[in-house]
Amino acid sequence: MKGLILSGGKATRLYPLTYTRAKQLIPVANKPILFRVIESICAAGIDDIGIVVGDTAEEIKSTVGRGGRWDAKITYIQQNNPLGLAHAVKVSQDYLGDDPFVMFLGDNVIQGGISELIRQFQESDWNAQIVLTRVEHPEQYGVAELNGEGRVVQLVEKPKDPRSDLALVGIYMFTSLIHQAVAEIKPSWRGELEITDAIQWLVEKGHQVFPYVHRGWWIDTGRPGDMLEANGMVLEELTPVIEGYVDRDSEVDGRVTVEKGAEIINSVVRGPTIIGQRSRIVNAYVGPFTSIYHDVTVENSEIERSIVLEHSVIRDIPARIQDSLIGRNVTLNRSPMKPKAFKMNLGDYSQVGIL
Ligand code: TTP
Repeated sequence: MKGLILSGGKATRLYPLTYTRAKQLIPVANKPILFRVIESICAAGIDDIGIVVGDTAEEIKSTVGRGGRWDAKITYIQQNNPLGLAHAVKVSQDYLGDDPFVMFLGDNVIQGGISELIRQFQESDWNAQIVLTRVEHPEQYGVAELNGEGRVVQLVEKPKDPRSDLALVGIYMFTSLIHQAVAEIKPSWRGELEITDAIQWLVEKGHQVFPYVHRGWWIDTGRPGDMLEANGMVLEELTPVIEGYVDRDSEVDGRVTVEKGAEIINSVVRGPTIIGQRSRIVNAYVGPFTSIYHDVTVENSEIERSIVLEHSVIRDIPARIQDSLIGRNVTLNRSPMKPKAFKMNLGDYSQVGIL
């Protein structure tokens, strides 16, 4: 069995962060989401993995490499335009050949891995298996309807009047029959080849499509709020380690990870939280559900439930920063220059909330 990870796309909902970086490489609890996806596929015993890449191909290739660090073989598949999830399967057909495969969206984070569902699919003679989870607002998702035997009978995108609360999670298992389905379907109203249409085609032709109902949490990190939520969930599951330096004047609780070379000076850090390599927290407060990535400085400031990416500096900020996603090489500080005003140099699509 092979793995297929979808890491193309435009990630417009995460602008401006994703103008300059691939969404799948944004770290959640200081590890890129894509690494978490690769690890869960490898943990299920699959070491032949294809990654579909788009405009951010070079960054993904140079960060992920050829798979050696996971003892896996990684093949990159170029998708020139993000024309849909089924289109990503289409461009991967030569790589996949006749093998069954698990397809995993490269921006999804799931609790507990995928070993169990891979095992179930491998032991079955099903043509496809889709991962579903119960959600409160099915009208916002792709929803599956099952029959009395538990078989999938219909998939509906964002139904106005949902007949079930089982939403599609971004993980699918297919046999090579999916290639026939993908070849038969037409682009949807939004101009994309939809994987739901391809699965619906299998259902209508009488092929066996079964669900796997996932019971832990699952987060599709499409928007900034989802990214923060995923970060919080993963932080809660981390086993804390202190590898950096914490001075005597600091208060760091038992759910905090301090990575190598990081320094906590005269500060309060409350977990679950992670402080990345060589970062410095000085006279500061870092509250729960925060991930400070590598080489960041937080000084004379307070921050919680946020993600700060590498090489950023937060200094002398008079109010607490909360629920924020701060990119790389960002400087947030207090300016001594008159007039007393907010002076900003923000990229396109930036969002700033001021009290
Ligand atoms: P989406 O979140 O549906 O799309 P997107 O990443 O382009 O985001 P936005 O809606 O904010 O513009 O994509 C889910 C995953 O699948 C994501 O990792 C990107 C990937 N993908 C592809 O690889 N090829 C595609 O054609 C599409 C549509 C998505």
